[in-house]
Amino acid sequence: MSQKVTTGVRPTLRIADKNQIPATEPERQYYFMDIAKEYLRQLSEEKGSPLTFHVSTFGCQMNARDSEKLVGILEKIGYVEEDSEEADFVIYNTCTVRENANNKVYGRLGYLNGFQKKNPFMMIGLCGCMMQEPTVVEKIKQSYRFVNLIFGTHNIYKFAELIVTALENSYSEHAAGHGTSMTIDIWKDTDKIVEDLPVERKYSFKSGVNIMFGCNNFCSYCIVPYVRGRERSREPKEIIREVERLAADGVVEIMLLGQNVNSYGKNLEQPMTFAQLLQEIEKVDGIERIRFMTSHPKDLSDDLIEVMKNSKKICKHLHLPLQSGSSRILKLMNRRYDKEHYLELVDKIRAAVPDIALTTDIIVGFPGETEEDFEETMDVVRKVRYDSAFTFIYSKRTGTPAAVMEDQIPEDVIKARFDRLLKEVQTISAEKAGALTGQTLPVLIEEKNEQDASLVTGRLSNNSVVHLPGTEDMIGKIVDVKLLECKGFYYMGESI
Ligand code: SAH
Ligand code: SF4
Ligand code: F3S
Repeated sequence: MSQKVTTGVRPTLRIADKNQIPATEPERQYYFMDIAKEYLRQLSEEKGSPLTFHVSTFGCQMNARDSEKLVGILEKIGYVEEDSEEADFVIYNTCTVRENANNKVYGRLGYLNGFQKKNPFMMIGLCGCMMQEPTVVEKIKQSYRFVNLIFGTHNIYKFAELIVTALENSYSEHAAGHGTSMTIDIWKDTDKIVEDLPVERKYSFKSGVNIMFGCNNFCSYCIVPYVRGRERSREPKEIIREVERLAADGVVEIMLLGQNVNSYGKNLEQPMTFAQLLQEIEKVDGIERIRFMTSHPKDLSDDLIEVMKNSKKICKHLHLPLQSGSSRILKLMNRRYDKEHYLELVDKIRAAVPDIALTTDIIVGFPGETEEDFEETMDVVRKVRYDSAFTFIYSKRTGTPAAVMEDQIPEDVIKARFDRLLKEVQTISAEKAGALTGQTLPVLIEEKNEQDASLVTGRLSNNSVVHLPGTEDMIGKIVDVKLLECKGFYYMGESI
């Protein structure tokens, strides 16, 4: 069967016998990886070249880390990564936090269909948060029949098994002539965490590390708890083991990931706080920098501030989402802190770690937001003076309490407030930028400069970008850099 198929003819697989499928994870997934590998071998033989894949990631760091897990499995079974969406397997790992994230995906699906019509080997997969919404899956079933595989956030660990099913459904004798058939597997929730599956890092020297999954906070505007399920913390020993392995593999910077890292460990059999976990991670040799995301103000403890103050490795950057500066709106948002508490926290953190960079997220136009409420947000922005802030226009997410609140704010009012806020945020960031000029500080070199081949680009502990003369072999190293001048939002420096 080494004959090449002509374009337009669908390949057919010889389906593998499946006996003795392991009952436990991750063994079960390794079993399916072997089968997938054999299918890939057959298909690439028919195609006359290796099959390629492309994963496009939307949304947050959590999704970025999930995509690295997808890539780990795809490479393990023999797919080769390709830079374009003309690959043989294109996967969209989707986000649904705001409505426009969803629209982007629908827009691009049509264009993928064009590629698929020309390539009989091409499969299209959809996963991530958007797929946890039943209306989305319904719409895809109705209007995007060409999609081969849909799965959600809770069963991503089953990816190898799902690929096998999707390949069989798309390329079996039975499928031949029937066009593609969709493989759909979505779970409502899970309490499971499967460890020890393959993962392929995007960067050799830094990595995200999940410390928890899901969210229990139910901020009234937010869809994440509905699509990511209940909060589950990983066992500390599993986290430490992963961090140790990463360190042994050359990673110097880790980013601990969770929707609310400050509530880490509450539901473990042997509870442990986030502050305690950080102290354990600090002990791992080789790890030089520790970042984390995201810190919810309601759960940020004095212990954590103390640990940050004494740590040699925790970076001098805290992302502390404000959402609104109005205590009245914060209550409606179910954020469970008020303006005063937030400002007190900021004072405490700055007293403990004076040179810390503070960043935030702010939503404009939450239902019922008055001009006075908005001014409260502006007031906090002026008082805190963030190094940078992500500003979002409120997006109504069906199923969340805020979606049915009275007094949704008209678009033009929101837009005008949004522009005022953005201007304030940008003015302050510009004023704050450059504060470190003249100092010599460690910089983790991350990449070659895109514009100028004689430069490399890296980050300070506080997350500011620095460009300096250098060569590719510096990537992944931490070097002392004298910050010579600040241009807009980045520094120019030289290594010492
Ligand atoms: N767990 C993180 C946030 C994850 S979502 C936290 O609690 O901070 C990232 C950001 O998206 C949020 O901080 C919020 O500012 C924004 N966001 C969430 N839902 C939104 C909505 N419905 N409309 C506009 N922005 C939203
Ligand atoms: Fe959404 Fe709030 Fe959970 Fe963050 S803490 S993910 S904003 S519900
Ligand atoms: Fe989006 Fe899901 Fe993250 S909705 S912001 S990708 S948790």
